Amino acid sequence: MSTDKVSVHGSWASRWVFIFAATGSAVGLGSIWKFPYMVGVYGGGAFVLVFLACIALIGVPVMLAETLIGRRARLSPANALKVLAVEAGHSGRWSWGAFAGMITALLILSFYSVVGGWSLDYIINMGKGDFQGATADQVGDYFGGVISNPWRLTFWHTAFMLLSAFVIARGVVAGLERSLRIMMPILFVLLLVLLGYSMTTGHFMEGVHFMFDFNPDRVLDGLLAAMGHAFFSLSVGVGSIMIYGAYMPKNASISGTVVGVALIDTFVSLLAGLALFPIVFASGLNPSEGPGLMFVTLPFAFGNVAFGQLMGVVFFVLVAVAAWSSAISLLEPMVAYLVERTRVRRLWVTFWLAFTCWFVGLGTVFSFNIWKQAKFFVSEESGFHLYQWGAASGLDFFGVVDFFTSRIMLPLGGLCFVVFAGWIMGRGAVRDELSMRSPVMFTLTLFLMRYVAPLGILIVFAAQLWK
Ligand code: TRP
Repeated sequence: MSTDKVSVHGSWASRWVFIFAATGSAVGLGSIWKFPYMVGVYGGGAFVLVFLACIALIGVPVMLAETLIGRRARLSPANALKVLAVEAGHSGRWSWGAFAGMITALLILSFYSVVGGWSLDYIINMGKGDFQGATADQVGDYFGGVISNPWRLTFWHTAFMLLSAFVIARGVVAGLERSLRIMMPILFVLLLVLLGYSMTTGHFMEGVHFMFDFNPDRVLDGLLAAMGHAFFSLSVGVGSIMIYGAYMPKNASISGTVVGVALIDTFVSLLAGLALFPIVFASGLNPSEGPGLMFVTLPFAFGNVAFGQLMGVVFFVLVAVAAWSSAISLLEPMVAYLVERTRVRRLWVTFWLAFTCWFVGLGTVFSFNIWKQAKFFVSEESGFHLYQWGAASGLDFFGVVDFFTSRIMLPLGGLCFVVFAGWIMGRGAVRDELSMRSPVMFTLTLFLMRYVAPLGILIVFAAQLWK
C-alpha cells in the first residue's frame, strides 16, 4: 500500500498554504453573514452554545476525517473514497458520498454567490456615501430596495460568480496564499474596530447576554440548524477540505492544523456576533431580521462613525474576499474530479460548472423579489401543501436550497466521511496519516471519529424528527 501518492493538481509548498486555504474556505459569509442572523432567528444563547458543541464534537472530527482521507489518497474526493475503500477491501461505492457532496457544493454556491454579490454591491454603496448619517429605518429600506430589484441582484451575482470562476480556472489555489495573508488580518482588525464601536453603543452587555444566556426552552428549535451551520461554517460535508487535504504536504501535522483552523473560524463568528448584536439593539433593529441582518446593521454603524465611509468600503471588500476564497473551495472538488476523470481543460470544466451554479442561483435571486410569494412545504390549517403561491408559512426557493443543503446534505456527507475514516480506512492508515506522538491523543481522536461524531449526528436528526 502506498503512502506517498502525488496529486496531479500539484501540491502546496508548506503547511501554511493549507492553513491559509482552509481558513480562507472556512471563514466567509458563514461566519460574518449567516451565523449572526441565525443566532437572531433562533433566539440567541441556546443556538450559540449548541453550535459550539457541534463544532467541537462533530465538526472538528469530520474535518480531521476529510483532511486525512484527502491527504492519504491525494485525489479528488470521489476518487479518494473509491481508491481508499478498494485498498482497504471495501466497496468502491463509497465514492457516492462524495458525488452527493459535489451536488451539495454546487447548490450551496448557487446562493452563496448571490449573497457574495450583495457585498460587492455594498462596496459601491458605501463608497458613494449612501449611508452617511442614515437612520436604522433608512438603512433597512435601502436593503429592501436592493433585494427587490432582480436585475441588480443578477448583475452582482454574475460578477461574483465570474470572479470565483476566474481564479479556479487559472488553478492558482496557491495564489490565494498571498492575498489571504494580507486580507485576513485586516478583516480581523476591522471586526475588532466594529467590536470597539459596539462597546460604545451602551448596549454591549445586552448583546453579550443575548448571545450567551442559555435558554433551554429554545434548544430543540435550533438544534438541527445549529448542527447544520457547524458544518457550513467549517466547510465540511462536501469534500472542500478533503481536496485541500489532498494538496497538503506529508510532513504537516493534521490535527494541530485542523484544530487551529476551526478555532479561527469559530472566533471570527463569535466576534461578528458580538460586534453586530449591540448595534442591533442600539439601533432598535430586530435581531430576528433574517438574511438582511448584517446588511442593515453594519451600514448603519459605518454611517454613524468617524471614517465610517472608508472603513465601510474596506470592510465590504474584505467580506467579498472572504466569500470569494470560500466559493473557490466549493467549486474545487468538482473541478478536480472532472479534470481527473475527463481530461477536459480546466477552463471549460470551470466555466460550465460556474454557469450551472449561476443558473440555479437565479432562483435565489428571484426568491427575494418576483418569486417571493412562491412557497414550498407549506403547512397550514387546511393541511400540508408541497407548493402554494402566496402562503404565509413555508419556505421560499432560497429557504428550500438552504434547508436541504445545510440541514440534510452536509450532516449526511459528514457522516459518510467520518464513518469512512473511522471504520473503513483501517486503523493503521489513520494512525499513519495523523502521526500523533501521543497514543492517548490518537485513541481519543479515533474515538471521536468512530463514536462521538456519528452518534452525535444521528441523535440530532432523531431529536429533530421526534420534536
Ligand atoms: N465555510 C464557508 C463559509 O462559512 C462556506 C463554505 C465553503 C462551505 N466551502 C464549503 C460550506 C463547503 C459547506 C461546505 O462561508
